[in-house]
Amino acid sequence: MHISQAQQHLHQILYKDSLLKKKLIAVFEGSIERPAPIWLMRQAGRYLPEYKVLREKAGSFWGLCMDPTLAAEVTLQPVRRFDMDAAIVFSDIFVVPTALGLDVRIEDGIGPRLDPIDDANALETDERRWAEWTKPVYEALGIVRENLSKATALIGFAGAPWTLATYLAHGGASPDQRAAKLWGHRDPAGFSRLLDALGAGVARHLVGQLKAGADVVQIFESWGGGLPPAQFRSWVVEPTAKIVEQVRREVPGARIIGFPRTATLEGYALYAQETGVDAVSLDTSVPLAWATQRLSAVLQGNLDPIALIAGGSALDGAIDSILAETASVPFVFNLGHGILPETPIAHVEQLVRRVRGG
Ligand code: CP3
Repeated sequence: MHISQAQQHLHQILYKDSLLKKKLIAVFEGSIERPAPIWLMRQAGRYLPEYKVLREKAGSFWGLCMDPTLAAEVTLQPVRRFDMDAAIVFSDIFVVPTALGLDVRIEDGIGPRLDPIDDANALETDERRWAEWTKPVYEALGIVRENLSKATALIGFAGAPWTLATYLAHGGASPDQRAAKLWGHRDPAGFSRLLDALGAGVARHLVGQLKAGADVVQIFESWGGGLPPAQFRSWVVEPTAKIVEQVRREVPGARIIGFPRTATLEGYALYAQETGVDAVSLDTSVPLAWATQRLSAVLQGNLDPIALIAGGSALDGAIDSILAETASVPFVFNLGHGILPETPIAHVEQLVRRVRGG
């Protein structure tokens, strides 16, 4: 039978598309992908000169986040430069509290600052304000989606209620999360209303991002460590389980990564078992031999961001041991926490090359 050139061409395109299945999604379906897919938490940011140019142009951090064209461009920068397997939308965990009525300033080199709150009623749902702060994120996701290769996954995210609460109760980053802990211990009912209100906003925002084109969403619990076990359960695990359930009610099969940074090993095990997340992102301290034995979730992690700054043979050794220890499980290569501004670009190149066997 004669096959026309046009048909042959079409077949080639279709065949190629099927080869371009996203590696990250294959891992969520239980596949052991080698080379492992790789992306880095905070992969867009100040270690990239092209980021600094756009950050300067936007004038402020919120100005950059809330301009869908600029946010999409910044999202794509690391993907283009390093050929990452996933893009994570350029945004911040403080979009949700801001969309719920709080006035959060992001100060250079310090982070989020706001007037501390001690009452869940400080959060409100004004639909206009909600749309004003969340729609630009969904628009940015749409633009990124259009500009992303079919092989690259798109990730949305939000902060977990407890982590957000630590900033809200203190008015910014706090060394020991004292204000949120005090609130939770002294006024459990009021604090639980705060976590519920934040959780509802987080679930809604994750659904919005999935509907706007995110393949996967990640929940950042950056301050998951240092809690007594009972409070880890009621302030971290239970609110996260509720979010997962709410998201899947609206988006059945939603793929969700949880990152309970610096939780104890028992904490990680409980979190993996009880929250319903598909994947657990491990911080630098978690032994991979333990995680591969004890956690049934997909694993992501956990290169020390400082080893990435160090580079050289220390970096190669750290990468190799992570790859060796996760060789027999579905795994996504990432850092144990966000990339730091002083990270040399050449070291990120070295990392991606080595993970891909070069
Ligand atoms: O991963 C990515 O590339 C997506 C973008 C992203 C940002 N913040 C951009 C950002 C993500 C995933 C976050 C999450 C975030 N934001 C977390 C959770 C993850 C973690 O690292 O624990 C937290 C706690 C925040 C709150 C926050 N916002 C902090 C601590 C800072 C840094 C302050 C500073 O100047 O060092 C911000 C601001 C921010 N968010 C920056 C970026 C790139 C830097 C500010 C700038 O460029 O002006």
